[in-house]
Amino acid sequence: MTPALARDIPFYPYPQSFLAEEEELVGIFRDVGRRGAFVMQEDLRRFEVNLARFLGAWRVVGVANATDGLLIALLAAGVEPGSEVIFSSHTMVATAAAIHFAGAVPVPVECGADHLIDAEAAEAAITSRTSAIIPTHLNGRTADMEALRSVTSRHALMMVEDAAQALGSRFRGQCAGTFGAAAAVSFFPAKVLGCLGDGGAVIANEERVGERAAALHDHGRDARGNVAGWGFNSRLDNLQAAILDYRLRKYDGVIARRRELARGYHAALAGVAEVVRPPAPDSDIDHFDVYQNYEIEAERREGLREFLAARGIGTLLPWGGKAVHQWEALGFRVRLPVTEELFARVLLLPMHPWLTDDDVQTVAAAVREFYGGRA
Ligand SMILES: Cc1ncc(COP(=O)(O)O)c(C=O)c1O
Repeated sequence: MTPALARDIPFYPYPQSFLAEEEELVGIFRDVGRRGAFVMQEDLRRFEVNLARFLGAWRVVGVANATDGLLIALLAAGVEPGSEVIFSSHTMVATAAAIHFAGAVPVPVECGADHLIDAEAAEAAITSRTSAIIPTHLNGRTADMEALRSVTSRHALMMVEDAAQALGSRFRGQCAGTFGAAAAVSFFPAKVLGCLGDGGAVIANEERVGERAAALHDHGRDARGNVAGWGFNSRLDNLQAAILDYRLRKYDGVIARRRELARGYHAALAGVAEVVRPPAPDSDIDHFDVYQNYEIEAERREGLREFLAARGIGTLLPWGGKAVHQWEALGFRVRLPVTEELFARVLLLPMHPWLTDDDVQTVAAAVREFYGGRA
């Protein structure tokens, strides 16, 4: 019989993101509601300014979600229809969808041992039609921006960053999302900075790109309300912005806690030969990781998943178990052996702010037990 745990450890306990701050959140709702401040109001403006300051970015524009944010970032940066945009296939389908809907051709490439875009593979995929590269800063870790920047500058390409999972992560002290012309972040509830529904932002690192992004997300209107071109309606709700602004004030503490949990996993999974751990916090001086996810590589992954599930421990296969190019319906005709091999092994362990140190020990003990080591 499977020994029952004292309590289940879900992959992500969604109700907690409300319950843990219920009083404050209801207070924000009441305040915004009483002011009738629902769309494009001062709470949103304040959040955009505070987030830009936090990131060291030129400008932030709140949008409906990061998928729209990526599309708007690509258009604002000036990616031409018909051009090719290179991305790592180990990302959410949203990255490729944004390229597609910008009228460009998504070109998937391999990721490296760090699960992030491989700069050499990206360079090898460049053709005369390539206009941009999108690194996805996956799992809360910024890609190797030195290697990527040298590729984009050697070939005069634009860089647009998918920072949906990486708000606050840094490479050599610089925040993810501030390296290229533009970037997008996601505030989906399970993100490190999440709201109570969908939400996202465009990070613009040049004045012109910021102006275009601001117009694109609001029917093509400029600051005076004149229609300056075609646009979308993709605005971050003022209520969500007020919640995010409140949470941004506590964000450094949230990141610190995730890093502590990652440190706990790293130590507790040491010596399990069948598991490859992500880098520990501070394991190299270039990266400051925020651990959106704790993504391991595991031998006999399906067996491990079932073993953990039987003990009430939730896990997740990234992107439903396939890299973007592996979804047949999307029509990619490439093989990416490194990424495909990785996708037979990757698994996300629980990682969220309500996880206790004991939970981490419990999960790690169950992993050790599965591989026949002492729990
Ligand atoms: C890497 C990556 N890109 C894009 C997105 C899309 O974000 P959103 O759900 O806010 O559209 C996500 C969301 O999970 C993501 O993880």
